[in-house]
Order: sequence, then C-alpha cells, then structure tokens
Amino acid sequence: MTAELLHIEGLRTTFPAAGGEAAAVDGVSLRLGRGRTLGIVGESGSGKSVLSLSLMRLLPPAARIRAGTIRFDGTDLRSLPEARMRALRGKRIAMIFQEPMTSLNPAYTVGDQIMEAIAAHEPAPRAELEARAIAALGRVRIPDAARRFHDYPHLLSGGQRQRVMIAMALACAPDLLIADEPTTALDVTVQAEILDLLRMLQAETGMALILITHDLGVVAEMADEVAVMYAGRVVEQAPVAALFGDPQHPYTLGLLGSLPRLDGHTERLPTIEGTMPQADALPPGCRFHPRCVFAAPACMQADVALRAIGAEHQVACLRAPVEASVSEVAAAP
Ligand SMILES: Nc1ncnc2c1ncn2[C@@H]1O[C@H](COP(=O)(O)OP(=O)(O)OP(=O)(O)O)[C@@H](O)[C@H]1O
Ligand code: SF4
Ligand SMILES: [Mg+2]
Repeated sequence: MTAELLHIEGLRTTFPAAGGEAAAVDGVSLRLGRGRTLGIVGESGSGKSVLSLSLMRLLPPAARIRAGTIRFDGTDLRSLPEARMRALRGKRIAMIFQEPMTSLNPAYTVGDQIMEAIAAHEPAPRAELEARAIAALGRVRIPDAARRFHDYPHLLSGGQRQRVMIAMALACAPDLLIADEPTTALDVTVQAEILDLLRMLQAETGMALILITHDLGVVAEMADEVAVMYAGRVVEQAPVAALFGDPQHPYTLGLLGSLPRLDGHTERLPTIEGTMPQADALPPGCRFHPRCVFAAPACMQADVALRAIGAEHQVACLRAPVEASVSEVAAAP
C-alpha cells in the first residue's frame, strides 16, 4: 500500500448564481498515493479545473470552498494561512496548464522564467540558478539547453514550450504535479512525446500526478486510478484496469464509446446525446438522467450517491453493479 499523499473529502466549491450559489464541485472525495497517477476525465464543464484550482487555492475571486477537507501530506490546505500556501504552491504542489503560451511571459527568456520559479522557493546566487535552470531544461529533454536558456518563448514550438512549463513546474521537485489538459493544444505526435516525458520524469522523481484530460486513451496509458466527473461530482472511480475492464456508469460507457476510433480517425462517435447541465440548473435525482439511456423513474426521485461495488470501485448509479460488462454484452450472440 502506497503512502497517502492527498486526501480530499466532501469538497464543495461554489460560484455566485441567480438566487444564491451554484456548486461547480459538489461533494468530491479523492485519494492519491505517493508516486501514483490519478486520471480525472469528464466533458467540458464537469468541474475538473475548478477541482484542481480548489486544491491549489488558485480559484477566481468569486469562487468559495464551502465544504470539505483537502489534506496534503497531513496538512489541511483549506485552513492553511495564505503565506504558507504560497510557500507550498510551486514547491510541493505544481501545476501545468493546457496552453503554455498563456502561462509563459513573452517578455522574458525561458531561462529567466525558470530561474524565477526556482528563486521563489530556493533563493541562490545567479550562477547557481542559471546552472539549475539549464539542468532543468536538459531534464525535459530540450536539446542544446544552454542555448535555449536565452530564447524567448515565441521562438519555441508548442511542444518545446510545454516542456519549458514542465521544467518550471518540476524545478523545485514537487511531490505532486497537477497537469490540466497538458497536451490538448498539441498535435498527436508531440502529445505522445510529452506524455512519455511526464512518465519518464515521474519514474525519475517519484512525484504523484493528477492528469486531467478529455481523452480516455491518455488515461488508459498513464493512470493508476481514474475518477470520472459529471456535473461537479465523481460518478465513477476505480483502478484503471477495473474502469476499462468493467465500466459501470452509463456516462463512463458513453465516454468509452466516444474514444477516438482505432483506425486513427479522431472523429468521435456520438453516443451521449445532449449536453451537461449547468451548475445552476441541475436536474433532480441523478444528474445524468436526462441523457441516460437506462434512466428509470427512480433515477429522477433522489440524489444518487457514490457507493462501493467492488474493491476500490465506486459508482453513482442505481443500476450498478451490472452483471455483464460491455465487452460481454458486445460478445453475446
Ligand atoms: N469563473 C467562473 N464563474 C462562474 N462559474 C464558473 C467559473 N469557472 C467555472 N465555473 C463553473 O464551473 C463549472 C465547471 O468548470 P470547469 O472549468 O471546472 O470545467 P472543466 O471540467 O475543467 O471543463 P473543461 O474540460 O472545458 O476544461 C462550469 O460549468 C461553470 O458552471
Ligand atoms: S442512476 Fe439511473 S439515470 Fe443515473 S446513470 Fe444510473 S441508470 Fe442512468
Ligand atoms: Mg478545465
């Protein structure tokens, strides 16, 4: 059993809405062990970014964490004074985002920006910062790192910029890296290279990874555990083999049907009709019922809670556990 690094319990994060507040994250509980990878998947608007910004305490000013606990290596992040949170952010928990161009400052060289990231937590003489920044660029496999150190971000390709962001994030050797759609803006080949890089760096450093993505293919390749989010909630959570081998929630089944086709086409199969409800206009009962092909009257009556259906496998669906897995159904005569 891996030692626990992160334990989120009952997290609820709200935004102001007409007539009160709407919860973008509504009662989410997650655990992550040291060195492990948790994949978080779900369509746009399911609350993946609000969840990760909640635990970084980098939410927009209007947002509020209304309930729950976030324990990171035994420390309660929710009640941590801002100064201590600042000391932890970037040093012990780092984050990378989808679009590296918006996170890098176009006015400074990549070397300056990496040195600044290091100096924020570990001040040192310039020569030492420079050596560490060049080493950090080398670690993310940027060729000719000493020369690239002097480049401005616009001179780099999208993939190289994302490597620089990873170098900055890992400069102080964090215990946890949160990667929010780190490869979505990149073409497929570069995407695979960045994922390989993250895997290599994880093996080298032993850091834990939260990987947020729309892409179940990425999760299958990278994650140990998976949480599927829908309308602010985790609706299915399982070790990666169980999630793909025995998916239970109709939403997960829909996402699996939406996987890019094996013949290389990227078009998605339209298996989930309709759209995700807004946080301020949630349907009663199971939040997925308006889109669920299995919806029954009971599904509309009361909230459907996440419950265990197997070792470390939890599902929020009245119908689960379903005896036959999808593959068995597909193989049936
Ligand atoms: N600044 C904001 N003001 C008000 N509501 C917001 C704000 N940011 C997010 N929300 C609400 O939170 C919900 C979840 O947003 P979030 O950005 O976490 O989704 P996501 O799962 O990260 O989507 P994507 O895959 O598009 O990145 C949104 O649907 C919206 O209702
Ligand atoms: S609880 Fe009912 S509506 Fe919700 S996912 Fe399960 S079958 Fe569908
Ligand atoms: Mg997001």
